[in-house]
Amino acid sequence: MKETKKTRRILITGGTGSVGEALVAAFASTGARVWFQYRKERRIAEALRKKFRAIPIHLDFSACFDLPRQDFDVIVNNAGINISDVQTHEVTTEAWKRSGLAVRWRRQLLGWLKPPTT
Ligand SMILES: NC(=O)c1ccc[n+]([C@@H]2O[C@H](COP(=O)([O-])OP(=O)(O)OC[C@H]3O[C@@H](n4cnc5c(N)ncnc54)[C@H](OP(=O)(O)O)[C@@H]3O)[C@@H](O)[C@H]2O)c1
Repeated sequence: MKETKKTRRILITGGTGSVGEALVAAFASTGARVWFQYRKERRIAEALRKKFRAIPIHLDFSACFDLPRQDFDVIVNNAGINISDVQTHEVTTEAWKRSGLAVRWRRQLLGWLKPPTT
């Protein structure tokens, strides 16, 4: 029997950041259907939508948010804040907490994953 290849549904958080843009491009190049979350970079989000037919999701993880279940095959939980321009010993507690923003939402993000098939 011929196997049908299903299009993968991918969610990338922080899609408008430097790492996120590269992730959107890389997954889109595989033929996957790509959704990406962003916070305020509407211009970059629009460019990604046009270039890769990727679907933007506008969400700020520092506020409460809700989304209907999406059944993604893969979630790349990349959103965060790049604090690499500061020396390690100069990173404030507040900045360090913000850098792990998306990690705090891990449980909710896992709820958007497609249940595994047996
Ligand atoms: N770049 C590096 O060298 C490096 C090294 C080690 C680890 N990392 C980690 O890799 C991840 C991505 O890094 P990056 O350099 O791509 O960072 P970046 O360019 O600063 O991008 C951060 C992304 O997270 C989103 N974001 C920030 N605050 C948010 C919030 N409150 N709610 C929702 N989204 C928010 C931003 O959305 P908007 O732009 O739309 O606001 C952006 O898409 C981070 O977790 C970072 O700590 C990066």
